[in-house]
Amino acid sequence: MKIYLAPLRGITDCIFRTTFLRYFKGVDKVMAPFISSLSAANGTRRIKPAYLSDISPENNRNTDLIPQILSNDPNDFLFTAQHIFDLGWPEINCNLGCPSPMVTKKKRGSGLLPHQEQICRVLDVVTARWPGRISIKTRLGLDSAAELYGLLPILDQYPLSEIIIHPRLGRQMYKGRADLEAFQNCRPLTRHRLIYNGDITNYDSYRRLNQRLPGINCLMVGRGLIADPFLSAGFKAGGLYLKSDSDRDILKYFLDDLLRQYQERLCGDSHILGRLKGVWRYLAAIFEDSGKISKKITKTKKLNHYTEMVKSIFAETPFSK
Ligand SMILES: Cc1cc2nc3c(=O)[nH]c(=O)nc-3n(C[C@H](O)[C@H](O)[C@H](O)COP(=O)(O)O)c2cc1C
Repeated sequence: MKIYLAPLRGITDCIFRTTFLRYFKGVDKVMAPFISSLSAANGTRRIKPAYLSDISPENNRNTDLIPQILSNDPNDFLFTAQHIFDLGWPEINCNLGCPSPMVTKKKRGSGLLPHQEQICRVLDVVTARWPGRISIKTRLGLDSAAELYGLLPILDQYPLSEIIIHPRLGRQMYKGRADLEAFQNCRPLTRHRLIYNGDITNYDSYRRLNQRLPGINCLMVGRGLIADPFLSAGFKAGGLYLKSDSDRDILKYFLDDLLRQYQERLCGDSHILGRLKGVWRYLAAIFEDSGKISKKITKTKKLNHYTEMVKSIFAETPFSK
């Protein structure tokens, strides 16, 4: 089973991704959060330096990275894709999944799913002119799974490397459950390799998924891997992974390393804490009494309080069972 680390804007930046891969095993590829270009009134386009820095080769050493593009315009998409190719990445991913209303109301992300003809306009240009591989990450639809069911046969005409499906609707955001049946319905509708993504949070959900989706040999995992970074090693070993005392040390070194790098790159306690709180929002679940831990970390305003708090969490709180 191959495991991809999902993109989570605001959390899985280049520092998080490269550090995660140094400390934890079992992740085969990582996808960067989406980037897009900005166009000026005079028709020129540019990509924010922060976006380019996040996917630059020097900030992503030893990483099998797939940069992701969010756009509904063929030329804009191609412009960003060409920058990515110039940086040396051989694959890009097209975001058809973002559920944020700010994004969907502009017919981007999952907001593009009801507009098949526009998706084709983008893919016609990009597959003809981009020299690398292209994959798609999608939800079932904005309002109805019929949107993806209708789109999948049309996508057969394009040379896509794979399609990653998070089986929820855009309108759902993260409510309800990922719909395994809808994922299964997608399988006969496409010739492309499908990758499953959504709600894999522990060994039980992984095992259930393997039973319900036989033949799927690649999973993308997001929140579950941040909540338990040892999960992928367990999946690869084919069993429940029992965490040891040395795993507590590894997790602590990982967090210390993240903190040190954010201190080097970012200015001010609030920026640094913002990044770390994003990680803890999910990571708290690895400890018993995670609600209390999460609340405490969220309230922290000073870095020295944060480091004291983390020290005491590791000294006093067992991992949850
Ligand atoms: C905070 C946050 C940011 C996200 N950013 C992105 C993104 O930039 N690109 C993308 O394709 N998906 C993004 N996602 C969706 C995840 O990649 C993933 O599809 C979703 O969380 C479901 O998988 P999971 O249950 O394993 O987390 C984001 C999700 C969250 C919670």
